[in-house]
Amino acid sequence: MAEQLWKGRFSKAVDPRVNDFNSSIRFDQRMIAEDMHGSSVHAAMLAKQGIISDADNEAIQKGLVGIAADLESGALEIDPAAEDVHTFVEQTLTARVGDAGKRLHTGRSRNDQVALDLRLWMRGQSRQLQKDIAALIKAICKKAGENTASVMPGYTHLQRAQPITFGHALMAYAWMLLRDLERLQDAESRMNSQCPLGSGALAGTTYPLDREYTASKLGFYAPCQNSLDGVSDRDYAIEFAGAISICMMHLSRLSEEIILWCSWEFKFIELDDAFTTGSSIMPQKKNPDVTELIRGKTGRVYGDLNTLLVMMKGIPLAYDKDMQEDKEALFDAVDTLHLCLTTVTPMLATMRTLPANMRRAAAKGFINATDCADYLTKKGMPFRDAYKLTGSMVSACIAADKTLEELTLKEFKTYSPLFEKDVYDAIDLVKCCEGRKSYGGPAAMSVNRQIADAEAILRDWEETENAEEESIY
Ligand code: ARG
Repeated sequence: MAEQLWKGRFSKAVDPRVNDFNSSIRFDQRMIAEDMHGSSVHAAMLAKQGIISDADNEAIQKGLVGIAADLESGALEIDPAAEDVHTFVEQTLTARVGDAGKRLHTGRSRNDQVALDLRLWMRGQSRQLQKDIAALIKAICKKAGENTASVMPGYTHLQRAQPITFGHALMAYAWMLLRDLERLQDAESRMNSQCPLGSGALAGTTYPLDREYTASKLGFYAPCQNSLDGVSDRDYAIEFAGAISICMMHLSRLSEEIILWCSWEFKFIELDDAFTTGSSIMPQKKNPDVTELIRGKTGRVYGDLNTLLVMMKGIPLAYDKDMQEDKEALFDAVDTLHLCLTTVTPMLATMRTLPANMRRAAAKGFINATDCADYLTKKGMPFRDAYKLTGSMVSACIAADKTLEELTLKEFKTYSPLFEKDVYDAIDLVKCCEGRKSYGGPAAMSVNRQIADAEAILRDWEETENAEEESIY
């Protein structure tokens, strides 16, 4: 049964080492559902075009349904000795339905078959990843909504810079992830645009195939226009891995942030026990392993993307066996992102925020210095002078171990007569934050609007997602 499909011209058996080396069944069996789906549509088209008989088509369809059922029930196992998933399906079918099975491959090659299978597989995975991302965005919006008044220092260069809220910081990640979602949808539209089936090995076929029919039945917008292109590009896989890598980069930054936030140096959050680990020697430790692993796995996914890019960069048209290497890299990138998203979401949802610590950190570091300078500017002092004067006040405060708001009005006035009692309001951290009502800023009303907008985008996404699923399946 585990015989190569291409044995015809060979007089000698393949060396078992080459057999193992060449074989892809170990990993490409993940695409078996897609392979059978493509085969079923191909056979239906062959019958419709009179290339095979209706009876053969019926036998093929029944055979495929039987194989799917037996795989599901465990009555049939994938043969690890088969060269690849395409070989396994065709040979199993032939063993069950005889000559009809041997007619399935008419006008088709494994080259267009694998290009189709991979696209169909990616389509399903892309939808799953989008759902995972949407769940994380929802969790972020919820946490952000609970923390629109949790004032904390905003940082640049990891130095305390200006007052923001924890809700504002979290929402920054929601917007990054919304773009990731959009990127996946966008990649999906190209992945679904052109159907490679019917490209044959590279040069099409002499059979009167109806490529429009197979393309539309398989959920593509059209058949691909060039058979060489159809079997030989993997740009859709690279684009998908690129979108996945960018999303991993965002998760990695969020992870780094969480690692900092839960350290004793910050203590802005406390992770739930269920999402941390201890140390075998230091009893006090509670480690954010999940986030560190996400940061680490990001490198691994970049490696997957790099594998695909390098694999493709020097191969001539059309199919080359190098391309078999695309699957493990792509599968790994997809699995890794899925794993990271589905672990970080409950971790984020269960983390406890510690607004009092955030507020304490905000009180140190002169993050209201810009507001003090703005106060003087609004009273008529040119901004550059106000900036300089506030700088000298900050350095005097550092020397005296004081904050700006701890200066008496008398002390304020030694710097400028423009200072009045209302300066305390102007540099009050909560008011500083609330005053930043500019579109996109940290004021609660602005963050609440961001949350509402993000949630509306997710609702739209859900609607189109449901409609797409209905139209394709
Ligand atoms: N296992 C192969 C792959 O993944 C399928 C295509 C094989 N085609 C060929 N001409 N050897 O790329």
